[in-house]
Amino acid sequence: MITAILVSPLGDGEMASRRPLESKLRVRYLLPQPEMKTAAVVLAAGKGSRLKSPIPKVAHMVAGRPMLHWVLDALAALDLDKIVVVVGHGADQVRQLVEDANLPNAVCITQAEQKGTGHAMRCALGLTQDEHPDNDPAILADAQRILLVYGDGPTLSPQTLVDLVEGGQGNEATVLTTILDDPFGYGRIIRNTSGMVTEIVEERDTNETQAAIQEINTGIYCFEREPLVNALGQLTTDNAQGEEYITDVVGILAPRVGAVVVAPDEVMGINDQIQLAESTDVLRKRIIQQHQQNGVAIIDPATTYIGHAVTIAPGAVIEPGCHLRGNTVIGAAKIGPNADLTDTTVEDGASVTYSVLTGTTVGPKATVGPYAHLRPGTQLAEGAKAGGFVETKNAVIGKGSKVPHLSYIGDATVGESVNIGAGTITCNYNGYEKFRTEIGDGAFIGSDSMLIAPVTIGEGAYVAAASSVTKAVPPGDLYVERAQPRIIEGWATKFHARYDKGKADT
Ligand code: UD1
Ligand code: CA
Repeated sequence: MITAILVSPLGDGEMASRRPLESKLRVRYLLPQPEMKTAAVVLAAGKGSRLKSPIPKVAHMVAGRPMLHWVLDALAALDLDKIVVVVGHGADQVRQLVEDANLPNAVCITQAEQKGTGHAMRCALGLTQDEHPDNDPAILADAQRILLVYGDGPTLSPQTLVDLVEGGQGNEATVLTTILDDPFGYGRIIRNTSGMVTEIVEERDTNETQAAIQEINTGIYCFEREPLVNALGQLTTDNAQGEEYITDVVGILAPRVGAVVVAPDEVMGINDQIQLAESTDVLRKRIIQQHQQNGVAIIDPATTYIGHAVTIAPGAVIEPGCHLRGNTVIGAAKIGPNADLTDTTVEDGASVTYSVLTGTTVGPKATVGPYAHLRPGTQLAEGAKAGGFVETKNAVIGKGSKVPHLSYIGDATVGESVNIGAGTITCNYNGYEKFRTEIGDGAFIGSDSMLIAPVTIGEGAYVAAASSVTKAVPPGDLYVERAQPRIIEGWATKFHARYDKGKADT
């Protein structure tokens, strides 16, 4: 069954950066029985103590973005009526993450005290209105089908949720499960002879036979609303942790509970720093493989880091040691080895080697590096060059212009076919204000020039090497500013002799 369709391409990069969860091409997944109103509940109230970190668990970065955004992104690809995020620990920060995700159908509700996953679900359904004014029974009143996911499962994909709903049609509840070599720590799935789930037993509550079961609860479920609400009313805290477990709903609804088994990589639950890094690796590889399938040559996947929002054209070559972050867009260009690009566009035929670029546009056939640092507002036009040990910021470098070595070009507009000699510096800042330098087409700036802004160099003008330019140079003229040279005859010879004599004496 084909469940994915492409919907309208998104607009420009600026829009994309304001909407972090919308990739350039949005893929939508259709749930079976689309007429059923479906909502999702995301549990994100837990502390995540085992991460030993001061920030809430779901705010931790995974492959370049907060864990919760991965989960919300998977949900956003489905046609859901509502996404309810249960917040508690670090509630303000988690609410902000939900806001940043900019999903029109997402709301937060508060679980003021974490009394277990079952209690969190009761909060989401507004069945605990006495505990917090957020918890409104109307929020999910229309939903006929409710997906429950945990905010700490960043590798979950929309297709897996479709498979869960599809495999669970006709059940009152369906549990997403996986088989682990080492199931320690997870709830175990107990099935009857016809394969239906009769119970989920938490690690701490297992007996020896149950502990040996390798099929585990991933914490992702699909419920029909009415049976869920009835079962939640019957939950107790009669277990090793003294909490209301959502897993007990399964026992209550049994045997009308099914299970859908998926690969472990789809359903990683992040509890500690080791799992955090493992999930980053899973997502990193997934992103790389998508680009490879699109025709991008990735020379060493093991040392390549590509953010989720990056787009790369077929024919691009990504050499080892590259980080492509934020809303970076790469054409059929050569990137690396060792390039670190954030929110940067590199056009066809360009190359970027051993360099750090942020908020930069590298035009067609332009070349960057080795060892350039191009900062926000840099635009290299077609065939331009920013070479070794060059730093730029807010600098527009025209077609075919070259800044080959050891320069700082900031707050500048450089025309076409300009040559900027080694060691040229735009002195753009007086400690309070920034000033602009304008250089006309075909100008030649000699090595080691100081362009003291605000200053203009006219078209085709020359600045003699080692000049400090403090006034406008008219087109076609030469500006030269040098102290009168002096030669002092024999000075060096005498100087050496004085010291060498001293050495001979000791
Ligand atoms: C849970 C499951 C277990 C499953 C495992 C998969 C229960 C009782 N157990 O165990 O069967 O194998 O996940 O990873 O559900 N949360 C709240 N409010 C609470 C408690 C938890 O929002 O009061 C959130 C947490 O932030 C977390 C999620 O629910 O995102 C799961 O809670 P956690 O304590 O990690 O459950 P596990 O012990 O991992
Ligand atoms: Ca967990």
